[in-house]
Amino acid sequence: MNQATTSRWSSRLAFALAATGSAVGLGNIWKFPYITGENGGGAFVLVYLGCIALIGVPVMICEVLVGRQARRSPVNAYRHLADQNSASPHWAWAGGMALTAGVLVLSFYSVVAGWAVAYLVRAVSGAFAGQDAQAIGRMFADLTGSPWHLLGWTLGVFAVSALIVGSGVNRGIERSVRWMMPFMFVLLVGMVIYGGLFADMEGAMRFMFVADFSRLTTDGALIALGHAFFTLSLGAGIMMMYGAYLHDEISIGKAVVMVAIADTVVALLAGMAIFPIVFSHGLEAGGGPGLVFQTLPLAFGQMAAGGVLGTAFFALLVIAAIASTISILEAVVVFAHERLDWTRTRAVFVCTAAVAVLSLLTVVSFNIGQTWTLFSKNPFELIDYLASNILLPLGGIAVAIFAGWVLKPEDAARALGTSVASTPFRVWHGTARWLAPALIGLVFLNAIGVL
Ligand code: TRP
Repeated sequence: MNQATTSRWSSRLAFALAATGSAVGLGNIWKFPYITGENGGGAFVLVYLGCIALIGVPVMICEVLVGRQARRSPVNAYRHLADQNSASPHWAWAGGMALTAGVLVLSFYSVVAGWAVAYLVRAVSGAFAGQDAQAIGRMFADLTGSPWHLLGWTLGVFAVSALIVGSGVNRGIERSVRWMMPFMFVLLVGMVIYGGLFADMEGAMRFMFVADFSRLTTDGALIALGHAFFTLSLGAGIMMMYGAYLHDEISIGKAVVMVAIADTVVALLAGMAIFPIVFSHGLEAGGGPGLVFQTLPLAFGQMAAGGVLGTAFFALLVIAAIASTISILEAVVVFAHERLDWTRTRAVFVCTAAVAVLSLLTVVSFNIGQTWTLFSKNPFELIDYLASNILLPLGGIAVAIFAGWVLKPEDAARALGTSVASTPFRVWHGTARWLAPALIGLVFLNAIGVL
């Protein structure tokens, strides 16, 4: 079956909330603060902002545009539009690659989201109170060291995601992001206010916003670009799928800029929520991936309102993660539904189960499978590497080239509500054709070690 989807978001806001829900996630709250910490702060943040505006926004426009023109899941979207524009049917492979990237990301993302759920439960039960660094470290090691515990939390994440996606675009995804996003924002702002009143906000601001370019490396710049990509959920056909539900008369450019701004604001607020606490407890900002699961709980355990704040923080993390997992699952489910003619319910069931099985590889990477290495990477590291460093950049290059070269400029301009001669269109088109593929290509070559 290869028919256009008939579901539509009920408004531009609904699309913006769902797409922001996808974009805002572990990438913003878990990863952005720690890579900022590792790459020296302010200068890195500046480069990151540049990457979002210069590459992130134009590429997201490409994805949403392709999705809305085709109104199909990624593989069929490429096939359909390639056919319409007399391009090679092999473009469908680009969709397959995007979907593969999504499946791989979902398989490890759900496991880390499971950690967040486990930590939410701990925060609620007051488990961090008065613990020292060693005890907090042991807590993390105990969780990740037990495949059964990890699996349990991960399956919980899958179950909730499946339930939401199974309820459909409007009754499932749209309805949940309508309360999840505002709630998340309130929690985040509450934490920033706490940081301003009771913790070292000044130190945090200095760290994040004073740019010391001597601390920025080429590697850091490429990490910033790669992260701009991951955080906007680009390269995996997610925005294509969400674009497929966008009404024709809504401006793609405006909607995309809204999403990019919201995602960036959340990342910056997350830094402004986390670093004041880290600094006022004399902890290490460059703490790496353990920053939110080890450094922060330590601080929560030492402060007066730590129980409430810790609960708010991990609730925030869980919500942000779930709004992202559902976006990936949606694309996979609709693909199965279109391709195999399964009902949505059946597609949700089978796809979730399949990705859950795949997630076992990540689950065991922290315990019994720690030593199963290939190219000195454990299964989780391999999957993350393959998806984030190879497939997502390639997916981004593909969609930029497709929108820039395969779609007819007049069609693209009409769909974007402008003319081929307008300046915004020419900037976007030039970026899609040349700049985005070139810069993403650089990130790619660096990530696979060629540069
Ligand atoms: N953008 C999300 C985050 O920052 C993660 C995410 C959701 C994602 N969907 C994606 C990343 C697709 C890459 C591709 O946490």
